[in-house]
Amino acid sequence: MRKIVSAAAIALLASCVAPKDAVKLSPIEELGKKLFFDRDLSTPAGQACAACHGQAVGFSGPDEQVNKTTGIYEGAVKGRFGNRKPPAAAYAGWSPKLHIDEDGEFVGGLFWDGRATGEGLGDPLAEQAMGPFLNPLEQNMPDAAGVVEAVRRSSYAGLFEKVFGAGALDPGKDPGAVFADIGRAIAAYERSAELNPFSSKFDGFWRSARAKGLEVGSIDGSNAADFRGLGLSDRELEGLVLFNTKGLCSKCHVLTSVGGMPPVFADYKYDNLGVPRAPDNPFLEQDKAFNPDGRGWIDPGLGGFLGTVGKYKALAAENVGKHRTPTLRNVDKRPSPGFVKAYMHNGYFKSLEDVVRFYNTRDVAGAGWPPPEVAANLNTTEMGDLGLTGAEEGLIVEFMRTLTDK
Ligand code: HEC
Ligand code: HEC
Repeated sequence: MRKIVSAAAIALLASCVAPKDAVKLSPIEELGKKLFFDRDLSTPAGQACAACHGQAVGFSGPDEQVNKTTGIYEGAVKGRFGNRKPPAAAYAGWSPKLHIDEDGEFVGGLFWDGRATGEGLGDPLAEQAMGPFLNPLEQNMPDAAGVVEAVRRSSYAGLFEKVFGAGALDPGKDPGAVFADIGRAIAAYERSAELNPFSSKFDGFWRSARAKGLEVGSIDGSNAADFRGLGLSDRELEGLVLFNTKGLCSKCHVLTSVGGMPPVFADYKYDNLGVPRAPDNPFLEQDKAFNPDGRGWIDPGLGGFLGTVGKYKALAAENVGKHRTPTLRNVDKRPSPGFVKAYMHNGYFKSLEDVVRFYNTRDVAGAGWPPPEVAANLNTTEMGDLGLTGAEEGLIVEFMRTLTDK
Protein backbone atom coordinates (compact mmCIF):
# COMPACT_ATOMS: atom_id res chain seq x y z
CA MET A 1 0.00 0.00 0.00
CA ARG A 2 1.23 3.44 -0.81
CA LYS A 3 1.56 5.69 2.15
CA ILE A 4 0.39 9.22 1.59
CA VAL A 5 2.41 11.72 3.54
CA SER A 6 1.33 15.33 3.47
CA ALA A 7 3.70 18.09 2.50
CA ALA A 8 3.28 19.58 5.96
CA ALA A 9 4.32 16.30 7.59
CA ILE A 10 7.42 16.12 5.39
CA ALA A 11 8.33 19.70 6.27
CA LEU A 12 7.91 18.88 9.95
CA LEU A 13 10.05 15.76 9.73
CA ALA A 14 12.71 17.64 7.83
CA SER A 15 12.78 20.40 10.43
CA CYS A 16 13.40 17.93 13.26
CA VAL A 17 16.37 16.34 11.54
CA ALA A 18 19.75 17.63 12.60
CA PRO A 19 21.10 20.02 10.00
CA LYS A 20 24.32 19.01 8.26
CA ASP A 21 27.09 20.99 9.89
CA ALA A 22 26.94 24.33 8.10
CA VAL A 23 29.90 25.47 10.12
CA LYS A 24 32.74 23.64 11.78
CA LEU A 25 31.65 22.85 15.32
CA SER A 26 34.09 22.39 18.20
CA PRO A 27 33.86 19.07 20.10
CA ILE A 28 31.69 20.54 22.88
CA GLU A 29 29.40 22.21 20.33
CA GLU A 30 29.14 18.94 18.39
CA LEU A 31 28.26 17.13 21.63
CA GLY A 32 25.61 19.73 22.39
CA LYS A 33 24.16 19.18 18.94
CA LYS A 34 23.93 15.42 19.50
CA LEU A 35 22.08 16.07 22.77
CA PHE A 36 19.78 18.65 21.16
CA PHE A 37 18.66 16.21 18.45
CA ASP A 38 18.65 13.02 20.56
CA ARG A 39 15.11 11.61 20.66
CA ASP A 40 16.06 9.01 23.28
CA LEU A 41 16.25 11.63 26.03
CA SER A 42 12.53 11.57 26.73
CA THR A 43 10.04 9.22 28.40
CA PRO A 44 8.62 7.65 26.32
CA ALA A 45 11.44 8.02 23.83
CA GLY A 46 10.75 10.07 20.71
CA GLN A 47 11.00 13.73 21.70
CA ALA A 48 14.15 15.81 21.25
CA CYS A 49 14.65 19.52 21.94
CA ALA A 50 14.33 19.94 18.17
CA ALA A 51 10.69 18.79 18.28
CA CYS A 52 9.82 22.25 19.59
CA HIS A 53 12.84 24.16 18.27
CA GLY A 54 13.26 23.35 14.57
CA GLN A 55 15.94 24.88 12.39
CA ALA A 56 13.61 25.50 9.43
CA VAL A 57 11.74 28.10 11.51
CA GLY A 58 14.73 29.64 13.28
CA PHE A 59 14.72 27.09 16.12
CA SER A 60 11.18 27.87 17.27
CA GLY A 61 8.02 25.75 16.90
CA PRO A 62 8.27 23.78 13.62
CA ASP A 63 4.80 22.22 13.39
CA GLU A 64 2.48 24.28 11.21
CA GLN A 65 -0.67 22.54 12.46
CA VAL A 66 0.21 23.46 16.04
CA ASN A 67 1.19 27.00 15.08
CA LYS A 68 -2.08 27.55 13.23
CA THR A 69 -4.15 26.47 16.20
CA THR A 70 -2.87 26.85 19.75
CA GLY A 71 0.85 27.37 19.18
CA ILE A 72 1.42 25.26 22.31
CA TYR A 73 3.40 22.02 21.86
CA GLU A 74 2.57 18.58 23.24
CA GLY A 75 5.12 16.90 25.50
CA ALA A 76 6.54 13.37 25.17
CA VAL A 77 3.50 12.05 27.04
CA LYS A 78 0.43 12.26 24.82
CA GLY A 79 -2.14 14.76 26.03
CA ARG A 80 0.29 16.76 28.18
CA PHE A 81 0.90 20.36 27.22
CA GLY A 82 2.96 23.21 28.66
CA ASN A 83 1.50 26.69 28.89
CA ARG A 84 3.55 28.81 26.50
CA LYS A 85 4.81 28.99 22.93
CA PRO A 86 8.40 27.87 22.24
CA PRO A 87 10.58 30.94 21.66
CA ALA A 88 13.64 30.66 19.42
CA ALA A 89 16.54 28.73 20.92
CA ALA A 90 18.74 30.52 18.39
CA TYR A 91 20.39 33.75 19.58
CA ALA A 92 19.11 32.98 23.10
CA GLY A 93 22.60 32.85 24.58
CA TRP A 94 23.02 36.62 24.43
CA SER A 95 20.64 37.20 27.34
CA PRO A 96 22.58 38.07 30.52
CA LYS A 97 21.88 36.66 33.97
CA LEU A 98 18.63 37.94 35.47
CA HIS A 99 19.36 41.15 37.37
CA ILE A 100 17.91 44.53 38.26
CA ASP A 101 19.43 47.41 36.27
CA GLU A 102 20.16 50.97 37.34
CA ASP A 103 16.55 51.97 36.56
CA GLY A 104 15.23 49.27 38.86
CA GLU A 105 13.99 47.13 35.96
CA PHE A 106 14.52 43.42 35.50
CA VAL A 107 16.83 42.42 32.65
CA GLY A 108 17.98 39.03 31.36
CA GLY A 109 17.36 35.43 32.24
CA LEU A 110 15.69 32.91 29.94
CA PHE A 111 12.18 31.59 29.42
CA TRP A 112 9.44 34.13 28.82
CA ASP A 113 9.31 34.77 32.58
CA GLY A 114 13.07 34.78 33.27
CA ARG A 115 13.04 31.81 35.62
CA ALA A 116 16.28 30.38 34.17
CA THR A 117 18.15 33.14 35.97
CA GLY A 118 21.71 31.88 35.53
CA GLU A 119 22.36 32.07 39.25
CA GLY A 120 22.83 28.32 39.56
CA LEU A 121 25.40 27.62 36.85
CA GLY A 122 26.45 31.20 36.11
CA ASP A 123 24.78 30.84 32.69
CA PRO A 124 21.05 31.13 32.00
CA LEU A 125 21.39 29.14 28.76
CA ALA A 126 23.04 26.09 30.37
CA GLU A 127 20.52 26.24 33.20
CA GLN A 128 17.60 26.50 30.78
CA ALA A 129 18.76 23.40 28.90
CA MET A 130 18.35 21.25 32.00
CA GLY A 131 14.70 22.24 32.36
CA PRO A 132 12.90 20.45 29.48
CA PHE A 133 14.38 17.00 30.19
CA LEU A 134 12.85 16.82 33.66
CA ASN A 135 9.65 18.73 32.90
CA PRO A 136 6.75 16.22 32.99
CA LEU A 137 4.98 18.36 30.37
CA GLU A 138 7.97 18.20 28.02
CA GLN A 139 10.59 15.43 27.82
CA ASN A 140 9.48 13.85 31.09
CA MET A 141 12.72 12.11 32.16
CA PRO A 142 12.50 10.82 35.74
CA ASP A 143 15.57 12.60 37.14
CA ALA A 144 19.12 13.75 36.38
CA ALA A 145 20.42 10.20 36.83
CA GLY A 146 17.99 8.98 34.18
CA VAL A 147 19.25 11.54 31.66
CA VAL A 148 22.86 10.67 32.46
CA GLU A 149 22.11 6.96 32.06
CA ALA A 150 20.55 7.56 28.62
CA VAL A 151 23.60 9.58 27.54
CA ARG A 152 25.88 6.79 28.81
CA ARG A 153 24.04 4.36 26.49
CA SER A 154 24.08 6.74 23.53
CA SER A 155 26.23 6.51 20.42
CA TYR A 156 28.04 9.70 21.41
CA ALA A 157 29.13 8.65 24.94
CA GLY A 158 32.72 8.59 23.64
CA LEU A 159 32.46 12.20 22.50
CA PHE A 160 31.13 13.13 25.96
CA GLU A 161 34.27 11.62 27.56
CA LYS A 162 36.47 13.33 25.00
CA VAL A 163 34.94 16.67 26.00
CA PHE A 164 34.59 16.26 29.77
CA GLY A 165 37.39 13.74 30.43
CA ALA A 166 37.81 9.96 30.61
CA GLY A 167 35.37 8.46 33.08
CA ALA A 168 33.10 11.55 32.95
CA LEU A 169 30.07 9.28 32.58
CA ASP A 170 31.12 6.62 35.11
CA PRO A 171 28.21 5.43 37.26
CA GLY A 172 30.04 6.60 40.40
CA LYS A 173 29.92 10.25 39.29
CA ASP A 174 27.46 12.67 40.88
CA PRO A 175 24.54 12.69 38.42
CA GLY A 176 23.77 16.33 39.26
CA ALA A 177 27.24 17.41 38.17
CA VAL A 178 27.14 15.33 34.97
CA PHE A 179 23.68 16.72 34.19
CA ALA A 180 25.09 20.25 34.53
CA ASP A 181 27.78 19.33 31.98
CA ILE A 182 24.99 18.16 29.67
CA GLY A 183 23.41 21.61 30.07
CA ARG A 184 26.74 23.31 29.35
CA ALA A 185 27.30 21.27 26.18
CA ILE A 186 23.83 22.13 24.86
CA ALA A 187 24.47 25.80 25.66
CA ALA A 188 27.74 25.62 23.73
CA TYR A 189 25.85 24.33 20.68
CA GLU A 190 23.16 26.98 21.06
CA ARG A 191 25.90 29.64 21.12
CA SER A 192 27.70 28.17 18.09
CA ALA A 193 27.74 29.81 14.67
CA GLU A 194 25.13 27.24 13.57
CA LEU A 195 22.47 28.98 15.70
CA ASN A 196 24.04 32.45 15.56
CA PRO A 197 25.13 32.83 11.94
CA PHE A 198 24.32 36.56 11.64
CA SER A 199 23.90 35.82 7.92
CA SER A 200 20.67 37.68 7.12
CA LYS A 201 20.19 40.37 4.50
CA PHE A 202 20.08 42.85 7.38
CA ASP A 203 23.47 41.65 8.64
CA GLY A 204 25.07 42.28 5.25
CA PHE A 205 23.55 45.75 5.29
CA TRP A 206 24.67 46.41 8.88
CA ARG A 207 28.26 45.43 8.10
CA SER A 208 28.34 47.59 4.97
CA ALA A 209 27.03 50.54 6.98
CA ARG A 210 29.68 49.96 9.64
CA ALA A 211 32.39 49.88 7.00
CA LYS A 212 31.25 53.32 5.87
CA GLY A 213 31.27 54.61 9.44
CA LEU A 214 27.44 54.71 9.65
CA GLU A 215 25.63 53.75 12.85
CA VAL A 216 22.43 51.83 11.97
CA GLY A 217 20.97 52.57 15.41
CA SER A 218 20.81 56.28 14.59
CA ILE A 219 18.90 55.93 11.31
CA ASP A 220 15.90 58.24 10.87
CA GLY A 221 14.12 60.19 8.16
CA SER A 222 16.82 62.83 7.99
CA ASN A 223 19.80 60.57 7.26
CA ALA A 224 18.16 57.53 5.61
CA ALA A 225 19.57 58.44 2.19
CA ASP A 226 23.11 57.79 3.48
CA PHE A 227 22.10 54.14 4.00
CA ARG A 228 20.88 53.54 0.45
CA GLY A 229 22.60 51.00 -1.73
CA LEU A 230 24.05 49.07 1.19
CA GLY A 231 21.96 45.94 0.77
CA LEU A 232 18.41 46.87 1.76
CA SER A 233 15.79 47.87 -0.80
CA ASP A 234 14.29 51.33 -0.48
CA ARG A 235 11.12 49.85 1.01
CA GLU A 236 13.06 47.79 3.54
CA LEU A 237 15.03 50.87 4.45
CA GLU A 238 11.80 52.82 4.96
CA GLY A 239 10.60 49.99 7.18
CA LEU A 240 13.78 50.20 9.23
CA VAL A 241 13.36 53.97 9.63
CA LEU A 242 9.80 53.43 10.90
CA PHE A 243 11.01 50.62 13.16
CA ASN A 244 13.46 53.09 14.71
CA THR A 245 11.20 56.17 14.81
CA LYS A 246 7.39 56.31 14.59
CA GLY A 247 6.93 52.57 15.29
CA LEU A 248 9.03 52.78 18.50
CA CYS A 249 10.01 49.13 17.96
CA SER A 250 13.69 49.73 18.67
CA LYS A 251 12.85 51.07 22.16
CA CYS A 252 12.79 47.38 23.15
CA HIS A 253 14.01 45.45 20.09
CA VAL A 254 17.17 47.51 20.27
CA LEU A 255 19.56 48.19 17.40
CA THR A 256 22.69 48.27 19.56
CA SER A 257 25.58 46.00 18.74
CA VAL A 258 26.52 43.41 21.33
CA GLY A 259 30.14 42.30 21.39
CA GLY A 260 30.84 43.83 17.98
CA MET A 261 28.12 41.72 16.33
CA PRO A 262 25.03 43.12 14.63
CA PRO A 263 22.06 43.69 16.96
CA VAL A 264 20.02 40.83 18.40
CA PHE A 265 16.90 43.04 18.51
CA ALA A 266 16.18 42.53 22.21
CA ASP A 267 16.90 44.57 25.33
CA TYR A 268 16.07 41.50 27.49
CA LYS A 269 13.70 43.60 29.59
CA TYR A 270 10.14 42.74 30.49
CA ASP A 271 6.86 44.28 29.40
CA ASN A 272 3.14 43.60 29.43
CA LEU A 273 1.99 44.39 25.90
CA GLY A 274 -1.58 43.44 26.67
CA VAL A 275 -1.60 40.41 24.41
CA PRO A 276 -5.11 38.91 24.55
CA ARG A 277 -5.76 35.64 26.33
CA ALA A 278 -5.52 32.50 24.17
CA PRO A 279 -8.76 30.73 25.09
CA ASP A 280 -7.73 27.50 23.33
CA ASN A 281 -4.49 27.09 25.28
CA PRO A 282 -4.49 23.33 25.99
CA PHE A 283 -2.85 24.00 29.35
CA LEU A 284 -6.23 25.23 30.57
CA GLU A 285 -7.50 21.64 30.27
CA GLN A 286 -4.52 20.00 31.98
CA ASP A 287 -4.78 17.81 35.01
CA LYS A 288 -5.18 19.60 38.34
CA ALA A 289 -1.74 18.23 39.26
CA PHE A 290 -0.19 20.44 36.56
CA ASN A 291 -2.70 23.27 36.48
CA PRO A 292 -4.55 23.72 39.78
CA ASP A 293 -6.29 26.85 38.40
CA GLY A 294 -7.96 25.00 35.52
CA ARG A 295 -9.67 27.26 32.97
CA GLY A 296 -9.15 30.21 35.28
CA TRP A 297 -5.38 30.13 34.78
CA ILE A 298 -3.90 33.48 33.79
CA ASP A 299 -0.24 33.71 32.75
CA PRO A 300 1.47 35.81 35.43
CA GLY A 301 4.75 36.09 33.48
CA LEU A 302 7.75 37.55 35.31
CA GLY A 303 5.65 38.49 38.35
CA GLY A 304 4.64 34.86 38.81
CA PHE A 305 8.26 33.78 38.94
CA LEU A 306 9.35 36.65 41.22
CA GLY A 307 6.65 35.64 43.68
CA THR A 308 8.46 32.33 44.21
CA VAL A 309 11.83 33.92 45.09
CA GLY A 310 12.32 35.35 48.59
CA LYS A 311 14.50 38.30 47.63
CA TYR A 312 12.21 39.31 44.74
CA LYS A 313 8.78 38.65 46.29
CA ALA A 314 8.08 42.29 47.07
CA LEU A 315 8.55 43.15 43.37
CA ALA A 316 6.19 40.47 42.06
CA ALA A 317 2.97 42.52 41.80
CA GLU A 318 4.48 45.27 39.65
CA ASN A 319 5.78 42.65 37.22
CA VAL A 320 2.70 40.49 36.77
CA GLY A 321 1.83 40.01 33.10
CA LYS A 322 5.29 41.00 31.83
CA HIS A 323 7.29 38.82 29.45
CA ARG A 324 10.84 39.17 28.20
CA THR A 325 11.44 40.97 24.91
CA PRO A 326 12.34 38.22 22.43
CA THR A 327 14.83 38.48 19.59
CA LEU A 328 13.29 39.36 16.23
CA ARG A 329 15.95 37.44 14.34
CA ASN A 330 14.31 34.86 12.08
CA VAL A 331 10.74 35.89 13.06
CA ASP A 332 9.87 35.40 9.40
CA LYS A 333 12.00 32.28 8.79
CA ARG A 334 9.68 29.59 7.44
CA PRO A 335 10.12 26.56 5.17
CA SER A 336 7.68 27.92 2.58
CA PRO A 337 6.01 31.31 2.03
CA GLY A 338 2.54 30.33 3.26
CA PHE A 339 3.78 28.42 6.31
CA VAL A 340 2.11 29.73 9.49
CA LYS A 341 4.06 30.69 12.61
CA ALA A 342 2.68 31.74 15.99
CA TYR A 343 3.85 34.87 17.83
CA MET A 344 4.02 36.13 21.43
CA HIS A 345 4.31 34.10 24.63
CA ASN A 346 0.96 32.41 24.08
CA GLY A 347 1.03 32.14 20.29
CA TYR A 348 -2.02 34.39 20.01
CA PHE A 349 -0.93 36.06 16.75
CA LYS A 350 -0.45 34.10 13.52
CA SER A 351 1.15 36.72 11.28
CA LEU A 352 3.59 39.59 11.50
CA GLU A 353 0.96 41.83 9.91
CA ASP A 354 -1.36 41.20 12.87
CA VAL A 355 1.45 41.80 15.36
CA VAL A 356 2.25 45.22 13.90
CA ARG A 357 -1.42 46.15 13.62
CA PHE A 358 -1.80 45.28 17.29
CA TYR A 359 1.10 47.53 18.35
CA ASN A 360 -0.37 50.27 16.19
CA THR A 361 -4.02 50.10 17.24
CA ARG A 362 -4.40 48.24 20.54
CA ASP A 363 -5.82 51.34 22.23
CA VAL A 364 -7.64 52.80 19.24
CA ALA A 365 -11.39 52.91 19.80
CA GLY A 366 -13.21 50.54 17.49
CA ALA A 367 -10.08 48.55 16.57
CA GLY A 368 -11.78 45.54 18.07
CA TRP A 369 -8.98 43.84 20.01
CA PRO A 370 -10.04 41.56 22.85
CA PRO A 371 -9.00 42.76 26.32
CA PRO A 372 -5.49 41.99 27.57
CA GLU A 373 -4.89 38.70 29.35
CA VAL A 374 -3.45 40.75 32.23
CA ALA A 375 -4.74 44.32 32.64
CA ALA A 376 -2.19 45.32 35.29
CA ASN A 377 1.17 46.87 34.38
CA LEU A 378 0.18 47.48 30.77
CA ASN A 379 2.66 49.38 28.61
CA THR A 380 0.70 52.38 27.34
CA THR A 381 3.60 54.72 26.57
CA GLU A 382 5.41 52.89 23.78
CA MET A 383 2.55 51.26 21.92
CA GLY A 384 -1.19 51.10 21.46
CA ASP A 385 -1.86 54.09 19.23
CA LEU A 386 1.15 54.72 17.00
CA GLY A 387 -0.67 56.45 14.17
CA LEU A 388 0.99 54.30 11.50
CA THR A 389 -0.83 54.07 8.17
CA GLY A 390 -1.62 50.63 6.75
CA ALA A 391 1.21 51.12 4.25
CA GLU A 392 3.63 51.93 7.06
CA GLU A 393 2.61 48.80 8.96
CA GLY A 394 3.46 46.83 5.81
CA LEU A 395 6.88 48.45 5.52
CA ILE A 396 7.78 47.45 9.08
CA VAL A 397 6.82 43.85 8.23
CA GLU A 398 8.96 44.02 5.09
CA PHE A 399 11.86 45.16 7.21
CA MET A 400 11.41 42.25 9.64
CA ARG A 401 11.63 39.87 6.66
CA THR A 402 15.26 40.95 6.19
CA LEU A 403 16.15 39.34 9.54
CA THR A 404 16.02 35.79 8.15
CA ASP A 405 19.34 33.94 8.18
CA LYS A 406 20.52 32.33 4.94
C1 HEC B 1 7.53 20.20 24.18
C2 HEC B 1 8.19 21.34 23.58
C3 HEC B 1 9.59 21.69 24.02
C4 HEC B 1 10.69 20.88 24.12
C5 HEC B 1 10.78 19.37 23.92
C6 HEC B 1 11.79 21.74 24.45
N1 HEC B 1 11.37 23.04 24.52
FE1 HEC B 1 12.54 24.66 24.78
N2 HEC B 1 10.91 25.76 25.09
C7 HEC B 1 9.61 25.34 24.93
C8 HEC B 1 8.72 26.35 25.46
C9 HEC B 1 7.20 26.27 25.49
C10 HEC B 1 9.53 27.37 25.98
C11 HEC B 1 9.05 28.62 26.72
C12 HEC B 1 8.62 28.17 28.11
C13 HEC B 1 8.45 29.31 29.08
O1 HEC B 1 8.93 30.40 28.81
O2 HEC B 1 7.86 29.09 30.14
C14 HEC B 1 10.90 26.98 25.70
C15 HEC B 1 12.01 27.78 25.99
C16 HEC B 1 13.30 27.48 25.57
C17 HEC B 1 14.43 28.38 25.59
C18 HEC B 1 14.41 29.81 26.09
C19 HEC B 1 14.46 30.82 25.01
C20 HEC B 1 14.19 32.20 25.54
O3 HEC B 1 14.36 33.16 24.78
O4 HEC B 1 13.79 32.35 26.70
C21 HEC B 1 15.51 27.69 25.11
C22 HEC B 1 16.93 28.21 24.94
C23 HEC B 1 15.06 26.34 24.85
N3 HEC B 1 13.71 26.27 25.11
C24 HEC B 1 15.87 25.28 24.48
C25 HEC B 1 15.47 23.95 24.61
C26 HEC B 1 16.35 22.82 24.75
C27 HEC B 1 17.85 22.91 24.79
C28 HEC B 1 15.57 21.71 24.82
C29 HEC B 1 15.98 20.28 25.03
C30 HEC B 1 16.77 20.01 26.23
C31 HEC B 1 14.19 22.15 24.72
N4 HEC B 1 14.17 23.52 24.63
C32 HEC B 1 13.09 21.31 24.68
C33 HEC B 1 9.22 24.16 24.35
C34 HEC B 1 10.03 23.05 24.29
C1 HEC C 1 7.83 48.13 25.17
C2 HEC C 1 8.73 47.20 24.54
C3 HEC C 1 8.40 46.77 23.12
C4 HEC C 1 8.15 47.55 22.01
C5 HEC C 1 8.06 49.05 21.93
C6 HEC C 1 7.95 46.64 20.92
N1 HEC C 1 8.08 45.35 21.35
FE1 HEC C 1 7.83 43.70 20.23
N2 HEC C 1 7.90 42.55 21.91
C7 HEC C 1 8.13 43.01 23.19
C8 HEC C 1 7.81 41.98 24.15
C9 HEC C 1 7.93 42.10 25.66
C10 HEC C 1 7.35 40.88 23.42
C11 HEC C 1 6.81 39.57 23.99
C12 HEC C 1 5.45 39.89 24.62
C13 HEC C 1 4.57 38.72 24.95
O1 HEC C 1 4.77 37.63 24.41
O2 HEC C 1 3.65 38.91 25.75
C14 HEC C 1 7.45 41.26 22.01
C15 HEC C 1 7.15 40.42 20.93
C16 HEC C 1 7.27 40.77 19.60
C17 HEC C 1 7.11 39.88 18.49
C18 HEC C 1 6.82 38.38 18.59
C19 HEC C 1 8.10 37.60 18.54
C20 HEC C 1 7.91 36.12 18.81
O3 HEC C 1 8.91 35.40 18.60
O4 HEC C 1 6.85 35.67 19.24
C21 HEC C 1 7.27 40.62 17.34
C22 HEC C 1 7.22 40.10 15.92
C23 HEC C 1 7.53 41.97 17.75
N3 HEC C 1 7.53 42.03 19.12
C24 HEC C 1 7.75 43.03 16.87
C25 HEC C 1 7.70 44.36 17.28
C26 HEC C 1 7.54 45.48 16.38
C27 HEC C 1 7.47 45.37 14.89
C28 HEC C 1 7.47 46.60 17.15
C29 HEC C 1 7.21 48.02 16.72
C30 HEC C 1 5.98 48.25 15.97
C31 HEC C 1 7.64 46.17 18.53
N4 HEC C 1 7.76 44.82 18.56
C32 HEC C 1 7.66 47.04 19.62
C33 HEC C 1 8.54 44.29 23.50
C34 HEC C 1 8.35 45.39 22.69
